[in-house]
Amino acid sequence: MTAASHHIPATIATERLLLRPFAPGDAGDRYAYQSLPEVSRYLYRPPLSREACAESIVARAAGTDWKADGDTLLLAVCRADEPGVIGEVALTLRSARARQAEIGWVFNPQYAGHGYATEAARALAALGFGQLGVHRVFARLDVLNVASVRVCERLGMRREAHLVDNDLDGDRWGSEYLYALLSHEWKG
Ligand SMILES: CC(C)(COP(=O)(O)OP(=O)(O)OC[C@H]1O[C@@H](n2cnc3c(N)ncnc32)[C@H](O)[C@@H]1OP(=O)(O)O)[C@@H](O)C(=O)NCCC(=O)NCCS
Repeated sequence: MTAASHHIPATIATERLLLRPFAPGDAGDRYAYQSLPEVSRYLYRPPLSREACAESIVARAAGTDWKADGDTLLLAVCRADEPGVIGEVALTLRSARARQAEIGWVFNPQYAGHGYATEAARALAALGFGQLGVHRVFARLDVLNVASVRVCERLGMRREAHLVDNDLDGDRWGSEYLYALLSHEWKG
């Protein structure tokens, strides 16, 4: 099943942004932020190579499945008033049976501090709770990732757990917060 069959619009327009699937021509813009160590710092993986950026775009070219556990809807975020991709948001179906989805965001630091990540994540959460019928949206983030904690809190998500030393980030033990929101708590 493709995203289209879930009635996911081709583009989502917010006040200042456009969310849309990545196109092959976006690989350079994506690489510009995904290659930065400061961006991948709390993602528990190295920066992405140019090839990895391009390959994941090509892999999604035929459309996005959003039916089985692990299926991810990845959207490029653009400013409505200028070309170019400034970041991305993703919604991953973690349990189709229990309608649980994980939300995430990665933005170019050049565009930090304007509320774009929050605005894009809010639109994706609205899609999840709306057309996609998600019951609970959650996010996992390193406790040191203060900017990301603030995005969760601006979205009205609840801090449900503080996992201690539950992962290894190189030679550093990583601790994570789990934030979540239920569909009936969603105020849009
Ligand atoms: C997490 C991340 C997306 C947050 O980016 P951000 O720019 O801080 O978040 P927003 O776009 O929501 O912007 C919020 C900031 O803009 C400010 N702002 C300015 N105008 C605003 C507006 N119109 N609306 C809302 N906020 C606005 C807010 O006050 C806030 O500032 P503050 O950080 O000083 O409190 C970014 O740090 C990032 O990409 N990090 C690397 C990847 C990552 O770790 N992802 C999360 C994995 S769990």
